[in-house]
Amino acid sequence: MTTHTATAQSSPNIAFIKYWGNRDNALRLPVNGSISMNLEGLYTRTTVSFQPSLGMDELIINGHEVTGKSLERVSALLDVVRQGAGLGLRAEVVSDNNFPTGAGIASSAAAFAALALAATKAAGLDWPESAISRLARLGSGSASRSIPSGFVEWQMGSGDEDSFAVSIAPPEHWALADCVAIVSAGHKTTGSTEGHALAPTSPLQAARVADAPRRLEICRQAILTRDFEAFANIIEHDSDMMHAVMMTSQPALFYWQPATLAVMQAVREWRKSGRQVAYTIDAGPNVHVLCPQAAREAVAALLGQIPGVGQVLTATAGGPARIL
Ligand code: PMV
Repeated sequence: MTTHTATAQSSPNIAFIKYWGNRDNALRLPVNGSISMNLEGLYTRTTVSFQPSLGMDELIINGHEVTGKSLERVSALLDVVRQGAGLGLRAEVVSDNNFPTGAGIASSAAAFAALALAATKAAGLDWPESAISRLARLGSGSASRSIPSGFVEWQMGSGDEDSFAVSIAPPEHWALADCVAIVSAGHKTTGSTEGHALAPTSPLQAARVADAPRRLEICRQAILTRDFEAFANIIEHDSDMMHAVMMTSQPALFYWQPATLAVMQAVREWRKSGRQVAYTIDAGPNVHVLCPQAAREAVAALLGQIPGVGQVLTATAGGPARIL
C-alpha cells in the first residue's frame, strides 16, 4: 500500500533583483523576473500526509494548529496536487522552522517550497523541478525560487506554464554570505500579498518594471563572473528602487526603521573604505548584508555594534529543496 506521506526541507532565499507586483495576482505571475540566493543553514521542514480519516486539511506550524487564511492558502496548493494525482484525500501538514518565527526572516518562501515538494511526493507525483517551482509559486511567488539550487532566476514567463525558477549557478560557485541584521523581530505590518497588489498604484512602478531586464542582466553577469563591485551596485540600486515604489504606493508602505537606514549608511561607508559589503532589504525593516564568506564573522560583529540592531543571523549559499 502507498503511504501517501513525505517530508521535504527547503531554505528561504534572499532576492538580489526583487519581485514586486503581479500581472496576475491569483496565479502570482510577476511583472518582472527576479534573481536570488538560497540561504543555507536556515530551513523549513514539512511533512505532508494524505489520510483517509481526515475530513479537512490540517496545518500545524511550529507545534501550533493554524486555521483561517493561512490554511486556505495551503489547501489551495494541495487542491492542485490532488487534482494532478486524482487523489481525494485531505492532508495533515506539519511544518517546523529552524529559525525563530517573528525574527523577521520571511518564512513563506521556504514554507511553500517545502510544501510543494512534500505534497507532490506524498501524492505519488514525480514532477520535474520546473513543475514543482510553478506549484510553489502559487503559494508565494518567491517560493518558486527556493526549489532550484544555489543562485536562482525566476523567469517571468509568458504564462503559468513557463513562469518558474531555474538555477543559474550552484551554491559552491561563489562563496558569499548573507548577514541579516535584525532591526525588528515584529511581524511586518503589510504582508507581501497585499503589497504586490499595491505596486501598480505607484507611478514609479512602470519605470522600475521597464528597466528590470537591464538590472537582471547586470546581476546575472556579476554573479557568473563573481564581480562583487558590480553585484553590490546593482543589488543596492534594485532594492532602493523597490522601496521607492513601496513608499510611493497608495496607501504608502514604509518598511524602514531608523536602524534600517543606519545599517544602509554604514554598509556604504564600509564599501567606500574597501570592504566588500552590500545591502538589500525585503518587505520589512531588517537588512541583509552580503559579503565574502571569509568576512562573515567580521561583518556580523560590525553589524552587531550598530545601535538598534539586535541579533545578526548568517547564512551561506544553499542547495535546492529536497526530500528527506
Ligand atoms: O513571495 P512573496 O509574495 O512573499 O514576495 C516577496 C517579495 C520580496 O521579498 C519583497 C522580494 C522578493 O523578490 O523576494
